[in-house]
Order: sequence, then C-alpha cells, then structure tokens
Amino acid sequence: MNRRDEREIQQLLGPAFERLLEGFEQLPADETTPPGSARIPAVLAEVAERLHDNYPYAHPLYAGQMLKPPHPVARLAYALSMWINPNNHALDGSRASSPMEREAVADLAAMFGWPQHLGHLCSGGTMANLEALWVAGRLRPGKILLASEDAHYTHGRISEVLGIPFEPVPADDLGRMRLDALEAKLEAGHVGTVVATLGTTGYGSVDRLPQILELAGRHGARVHVDAAYGGYFGLSSRLGEEARAAFDRLTDVDSVVIDPHKHGLQPYGCGCVLFRDPAVGRIYRHDSPYTYFTSDDLHLGEISLECSRPGSSAVALWATHRLLPPTHGGEFAAGLDRCLQAAARLHGILAADDRYRTAPAPVLDILIWAPHCNDGERTSIRSQAIFDAAARKDLHLALLKVPAARARAWWPGLEIGDAPVTCLRSVLMKPEHLDWVDRIAALIGEAHDEAEAAS
Ligand SMILES: Cc1ncc(COP(=O)(O)O)c(C=O)c1O
Repeated sequence: MNRRDEREIQQLLGPAFERLLEGFEQLPADETTPPGSARIPAVLAEVAERLHDNYPYAHPLYAGQMLKPPHPVARLAYALSMWINPNNHALDGSRASSPMEREAVADLAAMFGWPQHLGHLCSGGTMANLEALWVAGRLRPGKILLASEDAHYTHGRISEVLGIPFEPVPADDLGRMRLDALEAKLEAGHVGTVVATLGTTGYGSVDRLPQILELAGRHGARVHVDAAYGGYFGLSSRLGEEARAAFDRLTDVDSVVIDPHKHGLQPYGCGCVLFRDPAVGRIYRHDSPYTYFTSDDLHLGEISLECSRPGSSAVALWATHRLLPPTHGGEFAAGLDRCLQAAARLHGILAADDRYRTAPAPVLDILIWAPHCNDGERTSIRSQAIFDAAARKDLHLALLKVPAARARAWWPGLEIGDAPVTCLRSVLMKPEHLDWVDRIAALIGEAHDEAEAAS
C-alpha cells in the first residue's frame, strides 16, 4: 500500500471516533484530562522514531518470516475500540465485543463446516493449542500425545506444562508425519491424542489428515489439528490434491487451532481454538464469585482458560470479516490464492536457475532453497551470506536449518555430514508478493552473485 493511501486510512479514525462518542453523549461531562496530555505529541514522535528500528514487515520486499501486516480495517477497529478497552472475560466488561467475538468465531467454525462448536479467541497459537491439548488430556487422562517431529516446537513444551506424556512421530522428506510410524505408535497403545499439522512452520507441509483420522479412529485416539498458520488455506481454490483432501477433512477432527494473527489479517495477539463438540464446555466449568452477574448468557470467561482477554481483538476480527468474509470464492480467498501462486512462481524461477538447489515445490506459501555449492558446510555459509547481502538490498529473507538426512534426500549430489544444512526460506504471505516475484527473484540473484564473488 502506498504512503498516501496509508495516510488517508489513518484519517478514517476521526469520524468513526466521533460516531462512537455519540453513544455516550447522555453522560454528564467529565472535565478531567489524562496526566501529561500536553506532552503526548512529543512522546508519540519519540515512539515513531524508535519504531524506525524494524524490518519493513508490511512491504512486499519483506519476504522472510511468517509476518503479515494486519488489514487497515483491523487496525482501525482495534484502535477505535481501545477507547472502550473491552475485556471479553465477562459480559460485564464487553457487552458489545463478546457477541462480536462469538460471531467472528462462528465465521471461523463455518469455514471448517461446523454448524455448532465451542471456541473463543486467545493470545495466539501457543495458547490456543494449550487449551485444545488441556481438554484432550482431560478427556484421555494418562494417555500419550503424538505430534510430528515437524510440528511446532511448543507442542512438546505444552505437554510438559500439562503433564501429558509426549512422543514425536518422525516426518518424511516432505515434512509430513510418517503414517507407518504413526501406526506403529498407535498399535503400541496408550495414545490419547494425535496432533496433525496443516501447514508446518518451517516448510508449510500438510499432514495427511484423511489417513491420520482413519488410523486414530481405529485406535480410539482424538485428533487435534494445529492449523495456526495454514488454517485459512482451505478457502483457496489452488491447493494441490493432497492438501485439498486434508483441508476437506477438517470437518471431522475434534479440535482445531487457527491464528487470525497469521493469515487472518489481524494484529497480534489473536489466536482461536475451536472444539467440534460444544459439550467439552463442561471441562471449563468453574465459578467466579466476582463476575457473571449482568447476564445469564454464557460469558466467554466460562469457556476459556485465560481470565481477562482483549475485546479489541474480537472487534478487529469482526470488522475484518464484515469487509472480507472468510468464505470460498471471495476477495479474502483470492488473496490466499495469490500467496500460493507467488510461492509456486518464485520456486519455479529458482528451480530453473542452476545457481540454486530448490526443496520440493511449496504446498502452501513457504519455499526453501539453497545456493548450489559442493558440500553442506559451504552451502550453509553461502546461504547466510546471501541472506545478509539481500538484506543490504532491502530484501528480507529467512534461514532454515534443514536436517542432514532430509537435505541428502532432496539433493543427492550434495556432500553432507551430520550437521544440518542452513538454507534460505521465504514466506510469501502477502497477496502483493505475486506482483513482486520477478523483482524478488532478481534481488536474490544479485545477492547470490555478490555472496559468491565475496567468498
Ligand atoms: C503451526 C504453528 N503452530 C503454532 C504456532 C505458535 O503460534 P503463536 O506464535 O501465535 O503462539 C505457530 C507459529 O508460527 C505455528 O506456525
């Protein structure tokens, strides 16, 4: 987005704020001014200066980590609601924003084909997975939790926090949970829950959910899906066959985590946990002698582990859904299609260039490649040098340590010892990336040649 548009967007807050104040005009005037008000402009200018020290996350030349700018409507709605500062724990603190949260979460449940559900927003994927696995542990006490070795690192740690025995399941060369290994663990017994990941953090791999559901079902295990990053891609019309089959079976899992603060255009922190069976609400049951007085309706604090939660997150998500509903065939889905196209196109350009070795084609919008060196050590050093050279050209990439066995399987010609190989990684999660792919590829080429010449 250009800077003029951005300035015009900032101006939209004023009239909306006036409209908000109209709702409270009947109150007697309160003449107090916040302490230090006169110095706010100076402090704000200082804040703006401090924030210069950042990578340009919102710009298409930021093509590194899983970071995506929130949509302007989300930022504005969040800022607007901060005058209220609603607390979505109880309806007492969030008369408007609690119902908005329920509506926004129902939109996400509908995306998975769930006519009924139990769910709420929370601070992000880690907290959302913690809740899902807490419920899973309560429903399968003493049983083992399985997740792929490529699953997000927090699953192992969450299971420690919850005291649930955890076992990683080996992944294949494409970063998917190995089904033979899963079956062997299920047959060994005592498995309570299998975590499938639809969109792994490192590679964007998609676990084969249809087969996982079948295997887990045969052994009476629950299936939880960590779709914190990948969850929205079910709306895309451009998924490959295997990924499509996985996303289509989200309807049948026990619980899902999806992060609106990743692909859902929201500011941090906005994660969401959803259970297919609303009856799991009984596990959350507790009494709070201080709250829950203003309404007999369910308060969101009665179905969430956290107590206070920002109602502004719900307001922002609700506003975003009003503008860009998360439905098949809409503008929002078209944006996801463009991210998939951008990743596939950049992968194609790099794969056709003999300066690089590319990992298998991206399933979602994460791609991995490395400079064409003779051995693993030199590849790692050169990847780092390209990463640094690209950053000097304002192109921001990411790095990934690929285990030696996986790199060997991808690139049989590469001499590798036991050490992981550092490769380049890019998450093309902005729809605009599609228009910038050629420029990004050209800058990668310049950075490559510069790093090669300097070596
Ligand atoms: C698949 C997956 N699960 C969980 C998480 C953790 O989410 P958060 O950083 O919002 O806590 C991430 C973060 O990248 C992720 O990619």
